[in-house]
Amino acid sequence: MIALETEKAYPENYQQTVQQVVKENETGYLPPLKTKIDSIENYDFVFVGFPTWDMKMPPPMKSFLKQYNFSGKTFIPFNTNAGYGVGTGFETVKELCPNSKVLEGFEMKAGAERDGQYLVIKGEKAEEAQEKVKNWLKKIKLIQ
Ligand SMILES: Cc1cc2nc3c(=O)[nH]c(=O)nc-3n(C[C@H](O)[C@H](O)[C@H](O)COP(=O)(O)O)c2cc1C
Repeated sequence: MIALETEKAYPENYQQTVQQVVKENETGYLPPLKTKIDSIENYDFVFVGFPTWDMKMPPPMKSFLKQYNFSGKTFIPFNTNAGYGVGTGFETVKELCPNSKVLEGFEMKAGAERDGQYLVIKGEKAEEAQEKVKNWLKKIKLIQ
């Protein structure tokens, strides 16, 4: 499991980050990543998890998907959002990696930075998430 880190951190301030992301989406800017993976060829299945930003895939995840050759690999995308859904995020996996297989994704409402809600997947919500994830993995036949 590896977290993507950008070379330059996004602002601490939520609204500033939103504004920056909107601009990056408008111009198609792909932020350089500090995270490097030197063994991508060893993996056949790649779970890609990302929050919804601006109803899209966050630019750093686009950087990641553009940076490596995922031809012939299978993606399993999953997403958290503030309640507005995944937006175009799963479609973007297909667009950026046309030679990869993309399984049905999973999305779930999580925290909402805008409203100061952080780390909400705990307690009952964590149990709910676990159940939903299990059902999804069964549906896409990754577990029995
Ligand atoms: C820059 C930015 C833009 C966001 N845009 C959206 C959005 O368009 N729609 C949405 O539902 N949530 C949006 N969110 C909320 C995040 O998707 C949500 O807080 C995140 O999935 C929470 O995940 P976590 O609880 O795992 O941290 C945005 C958050 C940030 C920081």
